[in-house]
Amino acid sequence: MTITIDGPAGSGKSTAARKVAARLGIPYLDTGAMYRVVTLAALERGVDLGDEAALTELARTADFALDPGPTHIRVTLDGRDVTEEIRSMRVNDHTRFIAASPGVRKLLIEKQREIGARLGSMVTEGRDQGTAAFPDAELKFFLDAAIEKRAERRLHELRADGEEVTAQQVLENLAERDRTDAGRAVAPLRRPPDAIEIDTTHLSIGEVVDTIIGHIERAGLLERRADARSAGASSAQAAAGGAGHRDSKS
Ligand code: DC
Repeated sequence: MTITIDGPAGSGKSTAARKVAARLGIPYLDTGAMYRVVTLAALERGVDLGDEAALTELARTADFALDPGPTHIRVTLDGRDVTEEIRSMRVNDHTRFIAASPGVRKLLIEKQREIGARLGSMVTEGRDQGTAAFPDAELKFFLDAAIEKRAERRLHELRADGEEVTAQQVLENLAERDRTDAGRAVAPLRRPPDAIEIDTTHLSIGEVVDTIIGHIERAGLLERRADARSAGASSAQAAAGGAGHRDSKS
């Protein structure tokens, strides 16, 4: 069972995906973390962010891993924990170059599908999960919220991580990312036509999670999971109950 959650930055999709996955007892995949870690690798190695061939090669060879953590996914690059570094404004300001690379996107989507096949069941979130990566997902969601609200959430997260940023900087960064996410030639951010749209502007994270779980229940997916379980532990359920996934590019 694959459940996709797409939406713009600050729409609440990462937290929602993690909490929905926890409620279902299945792993979640934060695909933004993949674009972020490749961005960090490019910045550290001084790769020209406009060099498509170099970016694709970097995405192919970079040794990174994603492991579920208590608050968000734990990410390592060359064995070093970069979980916090990939959320910095420096990385925020440059992800759009990586996200615009057709070669990088192709590689990361392949990786996401491999992870999905290995896990069997997961909640995956990003910009293109219900469109490009998993068009046949059982259930798709699209989360959105007013930009001021999304900026407020981002500001809160960044400050909690010790970043010294102003509300204006965060708002401008978000507006710029909205423009590049929606306007890029490859895999622009689009609501999948068959997705359930949720406006999270006035909802708490608990309400967003309850809404999503309600849809999953009504779609009969909870029963399907229960049936699969009682029929014997499939690899999907084994993965779901276990330590999640590890994705290494080495
Ligand atoms: O969701 P996020 O802010 O962590 O995403 C980081 C960047 O990666 C952002 O520029 C959008 C991009 N991204 C993407 O293009 N496709 C995805 N599936 C996930 C993220």
